[in-house]
Amino acid sequence: MIDLHSHILPGLDDGALDMAETLTLLRIASESGITHMMCTPHIQLGRFDNNLANISNAFEQVTENLESSGIGIKLAFAAEVRICPEIMLLAKQSTLPFIGTWQGKDVLLLELPHSHIPAGTEQLIKWLKNNDIMPMIAHPERNRDILADRKKLQQLTKLDCLFQLTASSICGDFGEDARAIALEMIANEQATIIATDTHNVKRRPPKLKDAKDIVTEQFSEQLAQQLVHDMPWRISADKFSVVS
Ligand SMILES: [Fe+2]
Repeated sequence: MIDLHSHILPGLDDGALDMAETLTLLRIASESGITHMMCTPHIQLGRFDNNLANISNAFEQVTENLESSGIGIKLAFAAEVRICPEIMLLAKQSTLPFIGTWQGKDVLLLELPHSHIPAGTEQLIKWLKNNDIMPMIAHPERNRDILADRKKLQQLTKLDCLFQLTASSICGDFGEDARAIALEMIANEQATIIATDTHNVKRRPPKLKDAKDIVTEQFSEQLAQQLVHDMPWRISADKFSVVS
């Protein structure tokens, strides 16, 4: 399985606290069948002021520790970028980290606030696409505007961008409504990939295998494989070949 959303780099955001937790999460992920993991710390201006330089630095420290750990998992890095107007400036400066490519465009893992869909979201998504950047909306099933009104989701899907569901939503960890939306998006062929969005061992471990099993049971093994392996690999294969 290929996991394109995780917060395992230590000390950069609200994910892994230190290298010990990083390695524990990687061991759990590897033992569950995850072979490749994209490290995507938050970039949220004013809260998590990460950038390519400090993410790359933390990534190198993790790969050094990984080598001696005996954990068989391949890593690459990008970021999960919180929506804000400054994204346009970062795009122009070529300082946005991407999780891969899709149909000739760079794929940006784009996070909306959990509370709502901000005004200007549609315009920003259109601007990004016009500038050869394909947004992948992170965990739409957890957004409170979408939970309250499914029409908001339809407005986003009309923009023809990519969507990442979180594995633990499918497992029911974020409530029955988030689970129902996630399963509806899979049924309607609106979900591009499933990823763990793992943060820590206790509350948010990497549960991709559990989600895969549910999708296999409720839909098909082929669809489950598409969501946790084939599509993520098509998007990100080049990223892993660079670093491995
Ligand atoms: Fe995340």
